[in-house]
Amino acid sequence: MRDQAQKLRELAMERGVESVYHQPDKLSGSCKSIAVTSGKGGVGKTNVALFTAVFVAAFRKKVLLLDADLGLANVHIMLGMVPDKNISHYIDGQCSLDKILYRGPGGIDIIPGASGFEKLANIDLGRLGMLQNEFMKLESNYDFIIIDTGAGIGNNVIQFASRTDLSLIVMTPEPTSLADAYAMVKVLYDKGCPKIAVVVNMCASEREGNETFDRLNALVVKFLKRPLELFGTLPLDRDVSQCVKKQKLMVLDKGHESFNKKVLDIARKISGVQVIEKRGFFARFWNKEPKGLIE
Ligand SMILES: Nc1ncnc2c1ncn2[C@@H]1O[C@H](COP(=O)(O)OP(=O)(O)OP(=O)(O)O)[C@@H](O)[C@H]1O
Ligand SMILES: [Mg+2]
Repeated sequence: MRDQAQKLRELAMERGVESVYHQPDKLSGSCKSIAVTSGKGGVGKTNVALFTAVFVAAFRKKVLLLDADLGLANVHIMLGMVPDKNISHYIDGQCSLDKILYRGPGGIDIIPGASGFEKLANIDLGRLGMLQNEFMKLESNYDFIIIDTGAGIGNNVIQFASRTDLSLIVMTPEPTSLADAYAMVKVLYDKGCPKIAVVVNMCASEREGNETFDRLNALVVKFLKRPLELFGTLPLDRDVSQCVKKQKLMVLDKGHESFNKKVLDIARKISGVQVIEKRGFFARFWNKEPKGLIE
């Protein structure tokens, strides 16, 4: 893993982020939380979450990637990892929290997903309190927690996405994706989400990506009166799915410089995300509306 992290840092340096790169390894003291989410499924959330997580880590930030797709947890599959424990084992009390923390590429830490969080509804209050404390303590070890959520405006996804400092909505140029992204933005703003940014993925050209974003933003400004921010566009590139098939992370593969530069720009914008509320992600996740957590 050391050589992968080094490779990413070299790429980050080539792209002119030396000043960030040379910062000493230390925690900023407040963990920024980012949910990578979407209205429509299959738009590239998990890839975007992974790619940006390793690039943010290349800025010498401590990054935790939490796979919170409760239906189709697949971060570990994309990486060819076969974790023997996941979030579900921890919640069931079969192992401690450190046993579900796996070292991923580029020095990121990963908590593999499973249908785990919904089990929290059935555990006794004493144990729930302990889990909450452990998660909140864990979060203080990181600069960034990036959460890969499922798709759609279902309760579980919104629970995660509305409590982070930033919701990063991934969409594609397809009209259905536009409609679903708008629905997602509306629900997230209704739930008090402080900031929403967009990545347009699978674009035929940068122009197509920008136009797609403009269409969404025009609707949002017109009806919801709060503009979105475009964090970047990514091209449709068949090497992404080739790499997924080989369980290799494309941003660590040679020959994808222009794609990687775009990911790096997105990661740079993520790195600049402000902490909106003093409480960390897990404190917000549990304390705001504890009863509504796992309906
Ligand atoms: N930029 C891209 N170019 C080409 N193919 C892509 C791109 N991004 C993602 N894909 C492909 O699209 C498919 C879906 O990607 P991914 O699993 O990341 O989407 P997702 O939004 O997380 O899906 P789900 O909603 O099921 O969680 C994968 O086969 C992946 O290889
Ligand atoms: Mg996914």
